[in-house]
Amino acid sequence: MKKKKIMSEDPAVACSFTLFIFLILTTVLLFTGIIVAGDCLDRDKEVLLNLKSFLEEKNRVNRGRYSEWNADNSTPCQWHGISCSPEGQRVIGIDLSDNYISGEMFNSFSALTELQELDLSRNTIGGAIPDDLNRCSSLVYLNLSHNILEGELNLTGLNSLEKLDLSMNRIHGEIKVNFPAICRRLIVANLSTNNFTGRMDSCFDECWNLQYLDLSSNDFVGNIWNGFARLVAYSVSENFVSGTLSRSMFTSNCSLRILDISENNFQGELPGEISNCENLAILNIEGNKFIGPIPSEMGTISTLKGLFLGNNCFCRLIPESLLNLTKLTFLDLSKNNFGGEIQEIFGRFKQLRFLALDGNLYTGGIGSSGILKLPNISRLSLSCNNFSGPLPLIISQMHSLNFLMLAYNQFTGGMPPEYGNLPQLQALDLSFNRLSGSIPPALGKLSSLLWLMLANNSLSGEIPPEIGNCTSLLWLNLANNQLSGRIPPELAKIGSNATPTFESNRLRNDSMIAGSGECLAIKRWIPADYPPFSFVYTILTRKTCGHIWDRLLKGSGLFPMCTPGSMVRTLHISGYLQLSGNQFSGEIPSDIGMMRNFSMLHLGFNDFNGKLPAQIGQLPLVVLNITQNKFSGEIPAEIGNLKCLRNLDLSYNNFSGIFPTSFNNLTELTKFNISYNPLISGVIPSTGQLATFEKESYLGNPLLDVPDFIDNRTDNLPNHNQRQKKSTKLAVLVVLLALTLAF
Ligand SMILES: *[C@@H]1O[C@H](CO)[C@@H](O)[C@H](O)[C@H]1NC(C)=O
Ligand SMILES: *[C@@H]1O[C@H](CO)[C@@H](O)[C@H](O)[C@H]1NC(C)=O
Ligand SMILES: *[C@@H]1O[C@H](CO)[C@@H](O)[C@H](O)[C@H]1NC(C)=O
Ligand SMILES: *[C@@H]1O[C@H](CO)[C@@H](O)[C@H](O)[C@H]1NC(C)=O
Ligand SMILES: *[C@@H]1O[C@H](CO)[C@@H](O)[C@H](O)[C@H]1NC(C)=O
Ligand SMILES: *[C@@H]1O[C@H](CO)[C@@H](O)[C@H](O)[C@H]1NC(C)=O
Ligand SMILES: *[C@@H]1O[C@H](CO)[C@@H](O)[C@H](O)[C@H]1NC(C)=O
Ligand SMILES: *[C@@H]1O[C@H](CO)[C@@H](O)[C@H](O)[C@H]1NC(C)=O
Ligand SMILES: *[C@@H]1O[C@H](CO)[C@@H](O)[C@H](O)[C@H]1NC(C)=O
Ligand SMILES: *[C@@H]1O[C@H](CO)[C@@H](O)[C@H](O)[C@H]1NC(C)=O
Ligand SMILES: *[C@@H]1O[C@H](CO)[C@@H](O)[C@H](O)[C@H]1NC(C)=O
Ligand SMILES: *[C@@H]1O[C@H](CO)[C@@H](O)[C@H](O)[C@H]1NC(C)=O
Repeated sequence: MKKKKIMSEDPAVACSFTLFIFLILTTVLLFTGIIVAGDCLDRDKEVLLNLKSFLEEKNRVNRGRYSEWNADNSTPCQWHGISCSPEGQRVIGIDLSDNYISGEMFNSFSALTELQELDLSRNTIGGAIPDDLNRCSSLVYLNLSHNILEGELNLTGLNSLEKLDLSMNRIHGEIKVNFPAICRRLIVANLSTNNFTGRMDSCFDECWNLQYLDLSSNDFVGNIWNGFARLVAYSVSENFVSGTLSRSMFTSNCSLRILDISENNFQGELPGEISNCENLAILNIEGNKFIGPIPSEMGTISTLKGLFLGNNCFCRLIPESLLNLTKLTFLDLSKNNFGGEIQEIFGRFKQLRFLALDGNLYTGGIGSSGILKLPNISRLSLSCNNFSGPLPLIISQMHSLNFLMLAYNQFTGGMPPEYGNLPQLQALDLSFNRLSGSIPPALGKLSSLLWLMLANNSLSGEIPPEIGNCTSLLWLNLANNQLSGRIPPELAKIGSNATPTFESNRLRNDSMIAGSGECLAIKRWIPADYPPFSFVYTILTRKTCGHIWDRLLKGSGLFPMCTPGSMVRTLHISGYLQLSGNQFSGEIPSDIGMMRNFSMLHLGFNDFNGKLPAQIGQLPLVVLNITQNKFSGEIPAEIGNLKCLRNLDLSYNNFSGIFPTSFNNLTELTKFNISYNPLISGVIPSTGQLATFEKESYLGNPLLDVPDFIDNRTDNLPNHNQRQKKSTKLAVLVVLLALTLAF
């Protein structure tokens, strides 16, 4: 009786007390020992049941599998996520990752005095890490990644830790209290993507067992830690670290396999001693201010697979020795101010699969360097240079080519029909050049094509119906050309089945390492002015680019999409069709209703006429912009079914008839414009969504009865702004949530 009472007062003391007795008794009688240990397990079970009710209290709706923990079981050792010591005597591990947990962290973990592994990753646990956790001195593995933890870090009590993962939280302050304090046994430390500040250069000197250290995406300042070469992987990318890399940092016993110091403020030369890192597979130093030659010594790092030197100021001369790197598959030398013709040496890197030379100052053609004959090239990225002349025909013989990016150059002439002979091609980006002539029907043979970006050229003629054979084509941008004629009904078949392409990308699974090129391309491909695309755009960092890119290629949706007529949303891939700024005419074919994978239609600034087909209400549209055309007849009331619609622009047309009040059902609508349709009549309801817009949305419609208070409204009314902000926040949250869940 007495013992029970003590236990209920302080579990930790009680357990030590029992253990104490246990130690004495085992020396006398073995079986007594077993009974006492069983008591300890009962204590652990009680703590876990407290944990369960704590979690259930905080999470009333969505609950993870902890809610299956059954008090009637004699031992907790079989409960989901719980592991016990081999003899089944004590609880030593809790895995609650991905259990829909929100709220603050449970603050009695230390009552589990033998707890060695705690995984709370991928939840939405917030607040500061409680002091209690710091008393779990047996912890060997602690994973709190992918939560929203904040406050400063104090884990000084956890000096048995071997693996610590705090990545993707909001923890701030300096780290020097913790390191070296918990270094003794530490092997893995991931502090990536938090708000840590201050210096880190002397924190890890005494972490003799450390092998993986990730400090990326924080606000660290000062110099780099000069002992990093003894690690296996070191990343400090996306911080504010400055200074130079000295020779002495790359000791002869350098064991690095991954070194990532990209996106910082490093300067000076890259020392040739880096070749002491004989196992180096990935070197990423892009986005710094390195100058001088690329060290020829690097040609001896035979393990090198990825070399990212972009956005620096390296000399133009590429050392011949690098040709010896037989494993080199990814070479990124974007933005290094190389001018003139492409260095001839690039044509000799036969081993490359990815070559990015975007954003240099190259001129002339591409052919002379020989890079168009590289046998295994899958991705060639040469955007933002000053290449001129006709598009090289020889590209049509690059059969391994999946991604061709030539945007923002000065290419002239027509598009070679031979480009249709690249059945593997998934992205063709020729936007922002000076191409003329018509779109070759042969492009209809590009059965793997996901992106076709021809915007901002001088293309003319009609869209060939054959393009409709591109059933993978989800992202088509032909804006700002001189294209004309009707939209062929066949066009509605694009993007109807991209699954085979996505499947092949999933199978291939060579998840590509993000170079600077992905970000540039994705920014070009995502229409930044339009939600929800714009929200993806705002969260693009170097890291998220890589993830987003990878997700798009594998067909995972980026944001939840509506099914027409309902608010049910699924994370479904969605495409766009941008035809704005051309001279298209005629009616929109009613087949457009088949484009069920498209969330954005931009047909503005053309000469479309006739009725807008009611079938448009069958698309899961988020953006519909048909401004500056000659549409007439009634506005289809079916648009009122597009519950996910956020941006609707019908301005500057000739719509007539009664304005459909079903639009008041569009509760997500944040941008709306019906102005300058002088024949439109009817009444704008004085309550509901339509009443929230400024008078600019309704100008130039003399027959339309708009509530007085809208007419009298001055710009920037507070309630309007609030509404905007609220839905912006919501959308950002939804996108972030979707991304976090998915990554
Ligand atoms: C921590 O958890 C995340 C998500 O569950 C996982 O991806 C990561 O590998 C874990 N970290 C370590 C060091 O095991
Ligand atoms: C960290 O926590 C320990 C005990 O949990 C405490 O003694 C120490 O003062 C704390 N350190 C800081 C800098 O707050
Ligand atoms: C650290 O965590 C981030 C985010 O969870 C992850 O992307 C990264 O690969 C991890 N670093 C290491 C070295 O495991
Ligand atoms: C954390 O850092 C991010 C990115 O630098 C910043 O947007 C955010 O405001 C910071 N949060 C806090 C709490 O400092
Ligand atoms: C690596 O080499 C340096 C000198 O080159 C030496 O000081 C250091 O102790 C060595 N480290 C290991 C882990 O062997
Ligand atoms: C390439 O490697 C071979 C053999 O290791 C060597 O003889 C040759 O000098 C190297 N080439 C260059 C340009 O460094
Ligand atoms: C090209 O790829 C094939 C298949 O992956 C490989 O066998 C071949 O060695 C590669 N060629 C070069 C020059 O690396
Ligand atoms: C780019 O090329 C065009 C014509 O080919 C030339 O007029 C222009 O000066 C070049 N621009 C730069 C920055 O080299
Ligand atoms: C491609 O499209 C054209 C016109 O729409 C059609 O006649 C032709 O049969 C299609 N070709 C294939 C291979 O599907
Ligand atoms: C529709 O597109 C035009 C041209 O791109 C743009 O100026 C306008 O703001 C868009 N309308 C809305 C409501 O976003
Ligand atoms: C949508 O609007 C129509 C016409 O105003 C109305 O009859 C209908 O009930 C509304 N539907 C919903 C789901 O609100
Ligand atoms: C709007 O302004 C007009 C004249 O300026 C005035 O007669 C009317 O009462 C005002 N309506 C409202 C709702 O403020």
